[in-house]
Amino acid sequence: MATNRTFTMIKPDAVADGNSGAIIKMIEEAGFKVIAMKKTLLTPAQAGKFYEVHAERPFYADLCEYMSSGPIVPMILEKENAVLDFRTLIGATDPAKADEGTIRKIFAKSLSANAIHGSDSDENAAIEGAFFFATTEQY
Ligand code: TYD
Repeated sequence: MATNRTFTMIKPDAVADGNSGAIIKMIEEAGFKVIAMKKTLLTPAQAGKFYEVHAERPFYADLCEYMSSGPIVPMILEKENAVLDFRTLIGATDPAKADEGTIRKIFAKSLSANAIHGSDSDENAAIEGAFFFATTEQY
């Protein structure tokens, strides 16, 4: 995957609240092009695989349970400087610390139910995008 791409997923709380459309609108208005998108539901095991880098962290079990608690909307996005610009758009992990106007500040409920994911590096963006999408699903 090119370095001008990032991976995101709208998390169960935001999908359940009916905020997917508003979040996608913010993403597109910020200049990101949607390359791949779907609505899907992870099993706890799939959530555990996606977040296995956090396997030793105390919040891991709750994170896997939460991420498999309802449908999510994963997407691959394209824009110059995608990874960093998208992290800026979504804001800090903890919505209480997120800047005004960021997606997490507007839509997140808590540190764990924080509305949206954004890859933290080009390498992880490629790995995470491939977790959900075949190359034939990326346009
Ligand atoms: P992390 O990769 O640190 O944050 P980010 O999503 O901003 O890259 O953590 C992954 C997810 O784990 C995070 O979005 C929410 C959850 N989490 C908790 O539930 N408790 C915590 O203390 C942390 C750090 C994260």
